[in-house]
Amino acid sequence: MDYKILEHKKGIIFGALDESSIAWKVAEKAKQAGAEFTLTNAPVALRMGKINELAEKCDTVVIPADATSAEDLENLYKVSMEKLGGKLDFVLHSIGMSPNVRKGKDYLGLNYDFFLKTIDISALSLHKTVQTGIKCNAFNEWGSILALTYIAAQRSFPGYGDMAEAKSLLESLARSLGYHIGTKHNLRINTVSQSPTFTTAGSGVPGFDKFFSYADKMSPLGNATADECANFCVMLFSDYTKKVTMQNLFHDGGFSSTGVSQDIVESL
Ligand code: NAI
Repeated sequence: MDYKILEHKKGIIFGALDESSIAWKVAEKAKQAGAEFTLTNAPVALRMGKINELAEKCDTVVIPADATSAEDLENLYKVSMEKLGGKLDFVLHSIGMSPNVRKGKDYLGLNYDFFLKTIDISALSLHKTVQTGIKCNAFNEWGSILALTYIAAQRSFPGYGDMAEAKSLLESLARSLGYHIGTKHNLRINTVSQSPTFTTAGSGVPGFDKFFSYADKMSPLGNATADECANFCVMLFSDYTKKVTMQNLFHDGGFSSTGVSQDIVESL
């Protein structure tokens, strides 16, 4: 697919760590679709990741920002607008991290300081990103903001830990923000609920291999890949989806609407 549906659009892409990151694929597809954007990630991730390779490929710059810091975000918007020569039309929030999951804490043995960190990084950062962008007058009308989420916001998945609560909050924030930024600024915001995907964050979930193949067998169209997710995001950034807002959009091969599949029944 090589349609230039993002020509003349400018944006910021959060969360590309390495080639497996969903944000990495979004950056590649957005570039192909004609967009100009800056890349950003937490300073610590910049030291570990390969984002500079992506920046070179996309002919852009990397601006460090911890998404929990309003100060970093303000700088990110200012520098992005300078580099891109104008206001923004899209933002991808592709950020998730739970110290509880990372450290293997059981759900009934959660560390509450970690829990607050999970919420701060994985959910509140969306509100901060939007609020700071508005404060910096950084968005063009009809701009599109997207955040990535997972169906553990609606259903329980034992290994997903406190990320489930973070995703519920993230989706709720998108709905609430959508009202305010829609009525005051003609901006839209949605969450994309993606299939399990092999990435650094994804593989951090215990038993991810089995989790992945269960979802694949349950989904009539099979799991959605990161590339397919990126195509969907590009469409949601484009003018073809101008009136889509405040939605949680499942991009999961039909998993969310399937009770049970024949493949699963036969595997029992
Ligand atoms: P990833 O590990 O490549 O991306 C997560 C990103 O969050 C990393 O680039 C990391 O540096 C960034 N990050 C963490 N703390 C940050 C902070 N304080 N400030 C700024 N950035 C920070 O993994 P993936 O899978 O591409 O994750 C992207 C999004 O997709 C996340 O929201 C994740 O929950 C969501 N998602 C992932 C699925 C999967 O199975 N991989 C399924 C459904 C949703």
